Amino acid sequence: MLSEKHNGWKLEKLQVQNFRNLKTSLFNFAPGINCILGQNGNGKTNLLEAVYFTTNRKSFRKNTDYAQMINIEGANPEIVIQAVFSNGVELLPYSLRLTETTDERYINNKLEKKKFITSSVFINPFDAYSFHTSSSFRRQWIDSHISLGDREYRQILTRFQKSMRFRNSLLGYQAKGYAGQLMAIDEQVAEYSAFLTHRRNEFLAALNQYITSTFREIFSEEHTLELTLESIFTHWDKKRIFDFYRHQESTDAKAGVTQVGIHRDDFIFSFNGLNAFEFCSLGQQKMAFLSLIFAYIELFRYKFRSYPLVLIDDVSGELDSQRWKNLVQYLEKKNFQVLITTANENFGKELEKIPASKKFYIEHGTLTNHG
Ligand SMILES: Nc1ncnc2c1ncn2[C@@H]1O[C@H](COP(=O)(O)OP(=O)(O)OP(=O)(O)O)[C@@H](O)[C@H]1O
Ligand SMILES: [Mg+2]
Repeated sequence: MLSEKHNGWKLEKLQVQNFRNLKTSLFNFAPGINCILGQNGNGKTNLLEAVYFTTNRKSFRKNTDYAQMINIEGANPEIVIQAVFSNGVELLPYSLRLTETTDERYINNKLEKKKFITSSVFINPFDAYSFHTSSSFRRQWIDSHISLGDREYRQILTRFQKSMRFRNSLLGYQAKGYAGQLMAIDEQVAEYSAFLTHRRNEFLAALNQYITSTFREIFSEEHTLELTLESIFTHWDKKRIFDFYRHQESTDAKAGVTQVGIHRDDFIFSFNGLNAFEFCSLGQQKMAFLSLIFAYIELFRYKFRSYPLVLIDDVSGELDSQRWKNLVQYLEKKNFQVLITTANENFGKELEKIPASKKFYIEHGTLTNHG
């Protein structure tokens, strides 16, 4: 049995074979801050993706699959990732073999079916922009971040999506006898909608306890930040939602698609009571988004009693040097493990000043340790 008394698992060693452009060599990471410096197109994001894939069992890139991840020049049709995690007390060898059809994971050389014992949170510079501009992005972001720590939510969400697809196909084709099937599917849709709306609101209430203070802690500025769900189903039980869908039937049948539902609900991010997207500068939007993610990381720790691995891909754009310094100081204060990348030489210099960090330079997929 693995010991429970530790500060969470940290990645100590990583070796990858045939993963995108990364060359096979052994990387030794520090338990604190690891800076990955290198020019465009050399493998920084690929390295973060390999770590994320190891812990989260999927890529953070959208619509990416095995064919994209395997090295295009590699002769061997298999990706192998070997890692050693440490919790300060014990070491855990972890490896995975990935082919077109299989994803095998081994802990201590034993085949493992369950989810891995730790997760990574990925911070992508473009997500800040997408989060503020696209409601479907917000929905996906919230769903995937709730799912990371809530298996039941993920399962019910999958069932809901299946039911909703079926509902829409019934409405689209309107084959003979479809009304009876629609009534049956509405029972499911109502039950899942009530559950997911409740969990979303619970999650946001917990997250909102951290966002404003996290913003203040990182950027030393007083602003009130809040993320809220806009849904007519808030506080509705499944019976009321079921009745609502029954009333909607003729409108939905005319449109050939479900008009209202949690698949269309939106999340509003407010900054001092105003819509952050309409009111904030690009820099402020990025600061707000970073505070949101670091608040999520604190919530994660509260729930699981250990931090996730934090992967930060070049976030320097739009932030001025004072904000970089604030961010670096914040990372230094926290005791989570960070892999942070940049192609920006000035931000790289700021990162290099962090006394206890480990610095790497990546070129053509080869990572070299710079002390
Ligand atoms: N399956 C693959 N096999 C080989 N090379 C790949 C594969 N997939 C992507 N690459 C290449 O990997 C290189 C590095 O990509 P990556 O996104 O990691 O760069 P980066 O260092 O993050 O650059 P930037 O600073 O521009 O974000 C790219 O040139 C890309 O073409
Ligand atoms: Mg990149």
